[in-house]
Amino acid sequence: MPANGTDGAVLFATTCGGCHKAIDGATHSYGPDLAGIVGSATASAPGYGAYSPALKALHGKWSKEKLDAFLKSPQAQVSGTTMTFRGVGDPAQRAAIIDYLAGTKRY
Ligand code: HEC
Repeated sequence: MPANGTDGAVLFATTCGGCHKAIDGATHSYGPDLAGIVGSATASAPGYGAYSPALKALHGKWSKEKLDAFLKSPQAQVSGTTMTFRGVGDPAQRAAIIDYLAGTKRY
């Protein structure tokens, strides 16, 4: 069990779980399913039809570094994103969430 407050699965469930699942890459809720997001192309979750033009304009893949910057401040990183979330300020918590997501896969 990691130090208090840095369990990625718990942080994901409590911080992101209202809008995202991370089951298989295709089980969307308000936001896209995030399974397998690390290393995947941006705005490419199969069957998610609600991406904003701002996120679609972001090319490339979600590296851990890119995810870290986005999760720190989504609006600052992708101006116009519909992810209405102010971000995770604690770098250790961001790293824990990203490591948790890195362990999930799209099917
Ligand atoms: C209030 C709801 C909400 C919360 C909370 C939220 N998100 Fe999102 N997220 C969204 C929406 C909606 C999108 C699609 C944004 C767009 O198209 O601009 C999104 C997009 C994303 C993307 C881009 C996905 C892709 O396929 O390119 C990532 C990565 C992401 N969110 C991660 C997270 C993580 C990790 C958390 C928790 C720390 C989180 N989000 C919290 C609603 C939310």
